Amino acid sequence: MGRTVYVNGEFVPEEDAKISIFDRAFLFADGVYEVTAVIDGKLVDYEPHMQRLHRSLKELDMGQPASDDDLRAMHEELVKRNNIAEGLIYMQITRGVAERDFAYPEDAEQTIIAFTQVKELVDPAKAKTGIRIISIPDIRWHRRDIKSTGMLAQAMGKEASKRAGVDDAWMVEDGVVTEGTSNTAFIVVDGNHLVTRPLSNKILPGITRRTILKLAETGEISFDEREFTIDEAKGASEAFLTSASSFVMPVVEIDGVKIGGGQPGPITRKLRDMYIEAARNA
Ligand code: PDD
Repeated sequence: MGRTVYVNGEFVPEEDAKISIFDRAFLFADGVYEVTAVIDGKLVDYEPHMQRLHRSLKELDMGQPASDDDLRAMHEELVKRNNIAEGLIYMQITRGVAERDFAYPEDAEQTIIAFTQVKELVDPAKAKTGIRIISIPDIRWHRRDIKSTGMLAQAMGKEASKRAGVDDAWMVEDGVVTEGTSNTAFIVVDGNHLVTRPLSNKILPGITRRTILKLAETGEISFDEREFTIDEAKGASEAFLTSASSFVMPVVEIDGVKIGGGQPGPITRKLRDMYIEAARNA
């Protein structure tokens, strides 16, 4: 049975979901999105995802075509209708449908779509073994803090990692790691000290990142928000990435160099367990 998806106020079978070829997200990637995890049928970190959505919309002078309450109800309804115990909800808001012209249209009717994806989040096999990554140049635009649908550079990066026979890629710019193709990069140095780069226009402000830094405080794990090079990452005690779609995923190899003996490390495992427990008990 196919999914029930959401398009502009309606819940419809996925094969009946239609949007215009003139939608600006299709023509210009003129849209923003959020991906929210679901575990035990409950939304994870929903409020901060919506705060980030508000910010993305504001930075692009884009309206919000449905109220916060309606968006939340829509997320919950999608979980229910698709019987999602564990997985993701993707929601996208676009500037809407208008004659093709670069400047923003005056009165375009905006588009909202959302759909669910079943995904093993709590206990995927890779969380036990860790993943292998490569480093690639960061070729993206200068407003990576906006969660825009313009993700072609990341798709190219993910494809490059697939062709290299590994799981993902971290992007490097000006000699330092920016972030993963669809995740935030963390390393553990000196055995127990967490490092991730500070927020700026260079990276997406990850919601999972935010929660992990809070949990680090609770778990008395010290951390710095500072830049690090790919060489520092290769020599780190541990490395991991965070995102709504992978929570905390150990990285055990970078460009063929094993990290922490090629096994997920204790700080990574502790933060992953803390994250899942916090999500379950929220
Ligand atoms: N991606 N950086 C980038 C470039 C991302 O695309 C993402 C998330 C993150 C992590 O953010 P968060 O912790 O809020 O998920 C960092 C989502 C999962 C995606 O595009 O599927």
